[in-house]
Amino acid sequence: MVQVNADYLKLKAGYLFPEISRRIKEFSFKYPDSDLIRLGIGDVTEPLPMACREAMKVAIEEMGTAEGFRGYGPEQGYSWLRESICLNDYLSRGCKISADEIFISDGSKCDSSNILDILGKENKIAVTDPVYPVYVDTNVMTGRTGEVNESGEYQGLTYIPIHSENGFEAEIPKEKFDLIYLCFPNNPTGAVATREQLASWVDYAKKYNSLILFDAAYEAFIQDESIPHSIYEIEGAKDCAIEFRSFSKNAGFTGIRCAFTVIPKTLKGKAGNKEVDLWSLWNRRQSTKFNGVNYIVQRGAEAVYSEQGQAQIKRLISFYMDNAQIIKSNLTSAGFEVFGAINAPYAWIKTPENMSSWDFFDFLLKKANVVGTPGSGFGAAGEGYFRLSAFNSRENVEKAMERIVKL
Ligand code: MLT
Repeated sequence: MVQVNADYLKLKAGYLFPEISRRIKEFSFKYPDSDLIRLGIGDVTEPLPMACREAMKVAIEEMGTAEGFRGYGPEQGYSWLRESICLNDYLSRGCKISADEIFISDGSKCDSSNILDILGKENKIAVTDPVYPVYVDTNVMTGRTGEVNESGEYQGLTYIPIHSENGFEAEIPKEKFDLIYLCFPNNPTGAVATREQLASWVDYAKKYNSLILFDAAYEAFIQDESIPHSIYEIEGAKDCAIEFRSFSKNAGFTGIRCAFTVIPKTLKGKAGNKEVDLWSLWNRRQSTKFNGVNYIVQRGAEAVYSEQGQAQIKRLISFYMDNAQIIKSNLTSAGFEVFGAINAPYAWIKTPENMSSWDFFDFLLKKANVVGTPGSGFGAAGEGYFRLSAFNSRENVEKAMERIVKL
C-alpha cells in the first residue's frame, strides 16, 4: 500500500471554513426554510467591475482569432500586467519594486503556502495568534511542526498573541525567528499596522536576518491615509520581506482567481553556508510547477488599473466598508465590543457573557440564522471572539444586524 504524507494526520479536525459549511449544512437540513445570512467566509458578493468584464470579453474574442490566439503564457505572468502593478501599486507609493520582481499567480492563499517549497525545514517560525489558518496548516502539512496540543497550538511554531489588551499589536519578539508571518490589514481581527510598527518589524528582521511573509490581501480597504499599503513603503523591507497581494477582495476575483507575489531580487537565504537569492528559487519553482494565470483573467486584472477600473473598484470597496460600518455601529449600540471594521472588511467581536466562540456561532446560527466565523478557529487567542465579514448585500447586512440586535 502506498505511504501517505503522515503530517496531514497532525492537522486539527478540519480546515475552519469546511467545518463551518458542515455545520450550516446540518442546520439547513434540519431547518430547510430558514433564511440564512452568511457573514462567515470573506467571499465577495457584488458583481465584477464592468471594466474587468469588458477587458475579459475582448480577450476572449482575441483568443478566437488566429492572430490573437495564445497558448501557454509566461509562468511569471504577462509583462503588461506586471508593469501595471509595478507602476500603480508600488512606484506610485515610492516603493522601488521592479516589474520582474512581481509574479502573477492564482491566489495569495496558494502562494503563501507554496512559498514553503523554497524555504528550509529547519527555520524557526512565528505566527500571530489569531492567524489566517492557512499559514499554520501548510507548515503542518509540510512537516515543519510537531503535534497539536489541547489549545490547538502546534509544537515547533511560536504564537504571538494579539488581543484587545495589547491593542491587537503583536509584540516584537526578543528572540530570533527565521520566518515571521504578518497580515495587514489583519485577517481576522481587522487591525492595521502603522508605519512605525512596520518599521519595527523590518528593523527586527534585518537585525536577525529573518524573512517576513507579508500578506497584504486586504490593503485596498485601508481608509486611513497614514497606514502603509505595502511593506515596501518601509525602508529596508526589500532586504527582508516577501509580499502577497490579490485581486480577490478589491476587484471581486475570488472566483476568477488572480493575485501576485513580490520577491525582491535583493532577498537572500542560505543553503548550508552558501548564499542564495530567493527570486531565482521562486522563479525556478513557478516555471516547473505552474503554467501561469490564463490570458483572459490577466487582461481582466489589468483593467483594474484603468481609469474606469479604478473608479469601479473604489465604489466596490466603499460599498463593503459601508457594510462594515453598519455592522460596527449596530453591534456597538447593542452593547457588543467590536474591533476592526474601520480599515478592513472584518469586524472582530468579543462574544457576550464569555461565551465560547463556537457556542456563539451555534447561538447566532440558531437564533438569528446568521453565519459568522468563530474566533477560536483562527487560534487559541481567538477564543471568546467572533468574526463577521462585510462581504454581502446591503439588504442582508441590515437584516442580519436587525436580527442580532433583537436577540
Ligand atoms: C476568510 O474568510 O478568511 C477568507 O475568505 C479566506 C481566504 O481569502 O482564503
